[in-house]
Amino acid sequence: MTRRRQIYEGSAKVLFEGPEPGTIVLYFKDDAVSRNPKRSGTITGKGVINNRISEFVMSRLGEVAIPTHFMRRLNMREQLVRKAEIIPIQVVVRNLVAGSLAERFGMEEGEPLSRSIVEFYYKDEKREDPMVMEEHITAFGWANHHEIDEMINLALRANDFMSGLFLGIGIRLVDFRLEFGRVWEGEQLRIIIADEISPDNCRLWDATTNEKLDIDRFRRDLGDVEDAYQEVARRLGILPESGPSDIQGPHLVQ
Ligand code: TMP
Repeated sequence: MTRRRQIYEGSAKVLFEGPEPGTIVLYFKDDAVSRNPKRSGTITGKGVINNRISEFVMSRLGEVAIPTHFMRRLNMREQLVRKAEIIPIQVVVRNLVAGSLAERFGMEEGEPLSRSIVEFYYKDEKREDPMVMEEHITAFGWANHHEIDEMINLALRANDFMSGLFLGIGIRLVDFRLEFGRVWEGEQLRIIIADEISPDNCRLWDATTNEKLDIDRFRRDLGDVEDAYQEVARRLGILPESGPSDIQGPHLVQ
């Protein structure tokens, strides 16, 4: 990696100042952390695969006019994105009962929902990202009503599009988490999808067998975590060309 200013290091990514003003470089790590249950470790090749999956999904979203921060992939582990002012809210969209929703209401995982549910969580690791309502978001000034409406609108559009995209390759999009940011376009402030879209923040189940193809394999110690990520990439047609040897380190893509 060339020397440049690091802005932030999270559990799965490092952010660097980008080469042009208004840009950021996202570096995808292999590290994985789970809160419930508490677990941390490494998923070999995850960063390379997530870089590609996020590139692929965000590019397709861009093609149907759903704005994201993605600009271009730089190499195996890095992509260039637009710098945005991150809204400190995680937006979760659910299509089936799973995870914390199943726990909260004592329901069976896999129960279909009669309509998609949108939930908000305040980004605060120390407090384990508490669930919040629109009232909290506006009262505490994290986002205004218009921005909340836009986040819901974009999240539901992304849900429709991604549900179809994944179903086409035999995968059910059970739920996922998005982050959003604000960018200026001329005089106008616009809301765009930020962060990443990958098996780290989407629940993806095989549509026939319900086999988990996402980070729940790590969280729940189900094994074959690397294989699950590779399977998603393989079905999307974006597995690194020469297999595992191709996922060792950065390499410039022209
Ligand atoms: P949950 O069922 O654990 O609340 O998760 C809902 C969705 O949000 C699921 O697709 C996983 C994703 N998620 C993250 O990306 N990061 C997190 O820290 C958590 C808790 C969930």
